Amino acid sequence: MRIGVYGGSFDPLHKGHLALIEGALSSGIVEIVLVVPSCRNNFKSYTNQLPAPYRYYMLKGCIEELCLKDVYPCDVEFGIPGTSYTSVILKKLTDPEYITEFLLSNGIKKKRAKEEHSFFWIMGSDTLESFTHWYKPEEILSYASLLAALRPGDDTDIEKTASKIKRELGGNVELFRFNGVECSSSAIIRNRDLTMCPEPVVRFIELHNLYSENTMLTNVSESDKVGFFEAAIGMYPYLREKRLLHTLNVGYLSCALAERFGEDPGRALIAGALHDCAKELDIDYQRELAMSYAGNVFEDKKLLHSPAGALFAKERFGIDDQAVLDAICYHTTGRGGMSVLEKIVYLADKIEPSRTYTDLTDIRKMAYTDLDEAVRMTVRSVRNKFEEQGRQIHPYTLAMMKDLRI
Ligand SMILES: [Fe+2]
Ligand SMILES: [Fe+2]
Repeated sequence: MRIGVYGGSFDPLHKGHLALIEGALSSGIVEIVLVVPSCRNNFKSYTNQLPAPYRYYMLKGCIEELCLKDVYPCDVEFGIPGTSYTSVILKKLTDPEYITEFLLSNGIKKKRAKEEHSFFWIMGSDTLESFTHWYKPEEILSYASLLAALRPGDDTDIEKTASKIKRELGGNVELFRFNGVECSSSAIIRNRDLTMCPEPVVRFIELHNLYSENTMLTNVSESDKVGFFEAAIGMYPYLREKRLLHTLNVGYLSCALAERFGEDPGRALIAGALHDCAKELDIDYQRELAMSYAGNVFEDKKLLHSPAGALFAKERFGIDDQAVLDAICYHTTGRGGMSVLEKIVYLADKIEPSRTYTDLTDIRKMAYTDLDEAVRMTVRSVRNKFEEQGRQIHPYTLAMMKDLRI
């Protein structure tokens, strides 16, 4: 099969990207296109983008909702440590075992998935000019042809550039013409104007409140940002889409609340983002981690992931800040004498933007005004739910309620 590979930040995915994909497919040069969001972009600092899971699920959801035929989101970069170099990605992607498994798991028939494949790295014609300066260009060309998109009015010298690459580096370069759509991701973010984003992308951005003040991380140190972005990539194998995006949303919201209430924003970002990191681990493993971290005070299955998460955050993500580990450990039950950070993560967990289990308007408003009162409102609704379900309230929650005079 002739496989097109389209890599990029997709921060956010826009109509220009979709036009290019469609153009590549209708050129007939490729039969399918794999869209690969970068994890750690080598051209810009990756901490200035959205963490990779948002960008991956944004494009996955869009491809599915728009039923884009022969287009597949590809998460190959999540398994690659270090910078997202094209040569490294193509090395893994073109591995016969990897690509066959990928195609089969995306519903492509066995016969087609197992045939011999040729690969085409799709790019805009403007980037072709700089290709010789990329990391290991010869190696890239040993894995894939280059497939450059030409818009009407693009420089005709592009053919000369293509022949120069072929002459100097070997390999194959092909061109296709398409009707480009004029837009750029950076302009979309700068102007906060989503008109050039496909409808499912707009909904995704709004649901998670992305590209907002809260996701700018203005006052977070570079090392905390790196910790957060690495945690986002690192949690990908352990959590499914909904939970992973939830836990990252809690990170962003905790960070914003920390700024509001004088807590350290970077610390809150990490604590919030990792609070549910253990939630989908095997239950016996959760119990084992919970026991070794906190003894048997959290026996209920639903509570295990909190102490287990603290230990998992420590061992798997290298967190050694006790205040962060405590915020993770007590995010479900709360406890007596909670710190501001613990209250922030407890609250953010219940009201992050994608939460829709009940009308949260009032609590969300209160969250920026009076932290204790917002926590009180949350605990009351938790208590009511427990009473309705006839469940027992954990002694730690009772201690928190006493503290808050509920
Ligand atoms: Fe949780
Ligand atoms: Fe949670």
